[in-house]
Amino acid sequence: MHIPVLKEEVIQYLDVKPNDNFIDATCGNGGHSAAILEKNGPKGKVLAIDRSPEQAENCKLKTKSYGARITTVCDNFANLADIAGRESFKNIKGILFDLGVSSWHLEESGRGFSFQKSEPLDMRFNPENQLTAQKILNFWSKPELTKMFKDYGEERFGERIAQEIVNSRQAKPITDTLQLVEVIRRAVPGFYKRQKIHFATKAFQALRVAVNQELANIEKVLPQALDILAAEGRMVVISFQSLEDRIAKNFFREKAKEGKLEILTKKPIIPSLREIKANPRARSAKLRAAIKK
Ligand SMILES: C[S@@+](CC[C@H](N)C(=O)[O-])C[C@H]1O[C@@H](n2cnc3c(N)ncnc32)[C@H](O)[C@@H]1O
Repeated sequence: MHIPVLKEEVIQYLDVKPNDNFIDATCGNGGHSAAILEKNGPKGKVLAIDRSPEQAENCKLKTKSYGARITTVCDNFANLADIAGRESFKNIKGILFDLGVSSWHLEESGRGFSFQKSEPLDMRFNPENQLTAQKILNFWSKPELTKMFKDYGEERFGERIAQEIVNSRQAKPITDTLQLVEVIRRAVPGFYKRQKIHFATKAFQALRVAVNQELANIEKVLPQALDILAAEGRMVVISFQSLEDRIAKNFFREKAKEGKLEILTKKPIIPSLREIKANPRARSAKLRAAIKK
């Protein structure tokens, strides 16, 4: 099960107080939502959102005991303003984004998020969406694949990987995670395979980001979040890769210059060594927080 990352820090930077309302825009298994609900009783509410239907259900189960204080919806946070409007969720004192993928996706979804076991290359957060990893790998052109690996994975061997994908799929469509790992293995140089970070990490990240349009969604939601927050409301963004972190950092800086928010974290907050030891998935987390002016 997913262990919520930087849990204490999230509560601290959201400044969770009794009877205040919060949005958990990426509720996952509901770990952060439950932590907020523990602190914002007896009347404070949480609107919990997740794009994966199974995760929205997991969150509902986890937070059942809080009754009507939590509303869980399955939707894309890119529709945040509409969701809050639809749910008549008002007086919002804080919004949390804990971006990316959860342990459930990697370990239980069966949708090919992990390069460590054989699964169909799907990678959709929501299975109702049209685009899958298989479609990208088997139908996108070499320049499109190269650009994806560079823009969404900062993968330095993106062009070589794209070329190997194009060669391989002529013989047989690429449909399975371990098949893709082999394609990447053939494409990248020897030293790359001996590094601490697995040689397929960035290519898999790029594919997932492309399938789910993750960066575009973050770009879309941050202005909406600022807009719907109450005065003095807080935004907390936890990211796990530099491209996401850069979007949050630049957004906060730009809005701080315009006098619309104040940055609370000059440098991003990172997990302690103790947290990383207990939960290695926390190791790349960076938390940024700001308060609406
Ligand atoms: C790191 S997990 C969150 C874990 C959660 N904080 C917890 O404590 O269990 C990120 C979650 O965000 C969801 N997600 C990613 N992009 C999303 C989007 N655009 N809209 C809504 N949910 C999204 C994923 O489905 C995933 O469950």
